[in-house]
Amino acid sequence: MTEQPQTQQPDSSRPSEQEIEAAHAIYTPRNLKLYDFIVHGLSNRFAWRCPTRALDDHYRANLSSDHLEAGVGTGFFLERARRPAFDRLTLLDINDSCLAEARRRLGRYSPEILQASLFEPVPVTGPYGSVGLTYVLHCLPGTMGEKLAVVDNLAPAMDADTVLFGATILGESIEPNLPARVLLSAYNKKGVFHNRQDDFASLAEGLHRRFGEVRVWQKGCVALFRAQGYAAVR
Ligand SMILES: C[S@@+](CC[C@H](N)C(=O)[O-])C[C@H]1O[C@@H](n2cnc3c(N)ncnc32)[C@H](O)[C@@H]1O
Repeated sequence: MTEQPQTQQPDSSRPSEQEIEAAHAIYTPRNLKLYDFIVHGLSNRFAWRCPTRALDDHYRANLSSDHLEAGVGTGFFLERARRPAFDRLTLLDINDSCLAEARRRLGRYSPEILQASLFEPVPVTGPYGSVGLTYVLHCLPGTMGEKLAVVDNLAPAMDADTVLFGATILGESIEPNLPARVLLSAYNKKGVFHNRQDDFASLAEGLHRRFGEVRVWQKGCVALFRAQGYAAVR
């Protein structure tokens, strides 16, 4: 029997480079100056109806002294956690402007800076005590099932004791008010959000498939999660 030549099939579950780029292109140095005020000052309260202090509490409860923050933005929550010190703090992002801003704010902790995409296995030496993944999933292209592959790409950072925690804005299984509907529509059109089909159940199911201990709860349009006991996806 003659062997057929192997042709490389594109991975249909993997987003295109353009989609990955569009999901973070908005974080320019100029926009980052307004980011904290618009997102954590206004939108959390008036659109997503999840008070920023609930996310602050989430960080205070789960942040360890050996922490990896994935999708760091401006470093807002890490700064507000006001930890006296970290044994190790790693800031990971695909966007160099976010990394520069977060490094500026968190410089006193001498963080390790890592420019990397969450759509590739992350080049870190784990395990960390905690991994933060806040307001990242709703930006990522793909279905919830596809975008949770980024959790598996964080596997090098985790062992069974590592706590993965964070939050994501849902586009389904929510009751959005007018400002939320306007923002969801505008951000999804622009490619900054990809969360039209993100619902609570698919997030919870994807986390339960990967972790032994999972808590997911909802405040307004936001799902907050905490997961521990990572085992490769079954
Ligand atoms: C909405 S911001 C959230 C920032 C911060 N965690 C917060 O809650 O304020 C999303 C962050 O994820 C980053 N990001 C988007 N796509 C990414 C990817 N493929 N790999 C790594 N980081 C990504 C963006 O650059 C940005 O810093």
